[in-house]
Amino acid sequence: MSVQSPTYYIRTFGCQMNAHDSERMAGMLESEGYARVEQPDDASVVLFNTCCIRENADQKLYGNLGHMKALKDTRPDLRIVVGGCLAQKDKDVIQRRAPYVDVVLGTHNLASLPRLLRESTAGPAFEILEQTEVFPSALPSRRMSSWHAWVSISIGCNNSCTFCIVPAVRGREVSRRLGDIVAEVESLVADGVVEVTLLGQNVNSYGRDLDGTPMFSKLLRALDRVVGLERIRFTSPHPKDFRADSVAAMAECAAVCEHIHLPAQSGSDSCLKRMKRAYTRSSYLEKVRMVRAAIPGVAITTDIIVGFPGETEAEFQDTLTLVEEARYDQAFTFQYSPRPMTSAADLPDHLPKEVVQERFERLIALQNGFSLESNRRMLGNTFEVLVEGPSKKDPSRASGRTRTNKLVHFLDDGATQGSLRTIRVIAARPHHVEGELVDGPRRDAKRSMSLPLVGAGTACDACG
Ligand code: 5AD
Ligand code: SF4
Repeated sequence: MSVQSPTYYIRTFGCQMNAHDSERMAGMLESEGYARVEQPDDASVVLFNTCCIRENADQKLYGNLGHMKALKDTRPDLRIVVGGCLAQKDKDVIQRRAPYVDVVLGTHNLASLPRLLRESTAGPAFEILEQTEVFPSALPSRRMSSWHAWVSISIGCNNSCTFCIVPAVRGREVSRRLGDIVAEVESLVADGVVEVTLLGQNVNSYGRDLDGTPMFSKLLRALDRVVGLERIRFTSPHPKDFRADSVAAMAECAAVCEHIHLPAQSGSDSCLKRMKRAYTRSSYLEKVRMVRAAIPGVAITTDIIVGFPGETEAEFQDTLTLVEEARYDQAFTFQYSPRPMTSAADLPDHLPKEVVQERFERLIALQNGFSLESNRRMLGNTFEVLVEGPSKKDPSRASGRTRTNKLVHFLDDGATQGSLRTIRVIAARPHHVEGELVDGPRRDAKRSMSLPLVGAGTACDACG
């Protein structure tokens, strides 16, 4: 690598918002003439885009920074940048624990990255703001995929779930104008993108700060009209704000995928109350029923926290029975982690690690059974798959996703990344299925899935 051409290495921790922010940081550096490299050893700038949602994220960052110290000792001109949520929360701690870091920037000032890097030649440049200066979508982006794009529809969160640090580090909710989102998606599609994932902490309140009423269903309908856009995904709706108009838009818009991630967090009303989630188990399950009734073959996934302060065995049992009733296709399960700036951290009766671990394992075992059952229902049926590329575990095979977001591995026939193909499912595992490519034109899942999936339409247990 020539010494003249500056290079950057970027490592992202955490959620899709962070992945998208990293694309913005990469885009800004590339427009300043930096080239991307895959190893810190080859980089003139190393960036860590951090997450702070659970405590182990902190530990990971400081572990990584420790390795960078050794590299910086051998190459003092190396610039180390820490950005993102943990930087927003911990600017001073980073300065104290890793004084060799050159640039710290938070979640509200991504746009300052090139300036801070320039300033850092004269000494550490740390800048944290309390409010977003420039909506990140206005910044250049270096997309990680030619066929998929993250599209930010809002930033921040106005909720106050007691376990969650996001409002403290991402600020109040700000929605982007509908016309700007549609224009971005049109230009992405013109650039070859076939699938977008709309990002917001609470997509269903999208627009409330613009004209007083949520406009998420209007946005879905507007994007569905973009010619050439094959798939629209979004993450995440908050169950309390997820209403019939959004379900109708999901059902009626051909491009909107038959998958919804509906974070439950707990199945116990008393626990949900302590979490300040503003819904009950029964109102949550009512929404699950509404989705299943309106969207045949829909996949429903969730997030669940185990071991919230004061969680009793009876409350945990309510979570297990919620999982049984909802029949999730997949659940992301987390052990409660106390976070600074959250009110749950001050609640009494934090649970011993062994109790949380034992419940966590019971929950995973239960959900694995449902995940496998849901994948088994796909056996013998055909599905549209968007080809993602070689499988990570076995590069001789390809991977893709169905519209329901199921991971499919299949024998590669040179399938082009980003192309839509049809596969028949021939084997089911808990976290993926095996498929074989089927000749002929691909099918549109909304119009011609080969069979209505037993148990995934109105015939599921949750719907009675
Ligand atoms: N401890 C454990 N899990 C958490 N999550 C958010 N905050 C915490 C916490 N303090 C989980 C929630 C959320 C997901 C992104 O992370 O389930 O939906
Ligand atoms: Fe956190 Fe709740 Fe906002 Fe989601 S809705 S980001 S869990 S505060």
